Amino acid sequence: MRTRRGRFIVLEGIDGSGTTTQAALAAEHLRARGVQVHLTREPSDGPVGMLVRAVLSGRLRSAGGPPFDRRSLALLFAADRLDHITSEVGPRLAAGVTVVSDRYVYSSLAYQSQDCPPSWVKELNRLAPAPDLCVFLRLPARAAEKRLRSSRQSRDIFEEIVFQRRVAASYARAVRAVPRGRLLVVDGALPKERVFGAIRTRLDALM
Ligand code: TMP
Repeated sequence: MRTRRGRFIVLEGIDGSGTTTQAALAAEHLRARGVQVHLTREPSDGPVGMLVRAVLSGRLRSAGGPPFDRRSLALLFAADRLDHITSEVGPRLAAGVTVVSDRYVYSSLAYQSQDCPPSWVKELNRLAPAPDLCVFLRLPARAAEKRLRSSRQSRDIFEEIVFQRRVAASYARAVRAVPRGRLLVVDGALPKERVFGAIRTRLDALM
């Protein structure tokens, strides 16, 4: 008998919107229902993902010292994604495991389109397969900023309020690329239990 392909579920939103918390809750809920789940994230824990995280934290700079070129960073995000899909996500889906990813291609469309032509970012990510479900946690940049301020000591290069405001607006466009019927938009300002309540209903329907 052929194994039924696993579901691919991704969570998206600006920094501080709660994608990490909700991805963990989703994985926990599915496991409790007896579903085999692999929880992952982008940037991934693979070699390119580790490089991207070093750039984001400011630990790694360009030769000569200037901040890392944002177009090159867009290429690294796309390279990490293909590596992630090929080596980690795809084989699990094929084996019938459901994969939950904290961020995916819509992050690149929303973030990298700030510094690079959007059509180029889209092209770089053309080979990334569509997820079965994309949960978008919609939250104004100001509310996210408040959360980040109270929870983090060190900040990534993308976490300034002006940039996040632009990303928040850009996300609304980015998630239009999600295939019809596969997008769930949740108000990220709600308490986390209520946010998860909406996600859980959709997950149960999907499985
Ligand atoms: P994280 O805070 O969820 O670990 O993500 C790291 C940062 O990288 C976050 O600011 C979002 C950003 N990012 C992109 O700019 N493009 C991408 O494709 C991904 C996956 C993340």
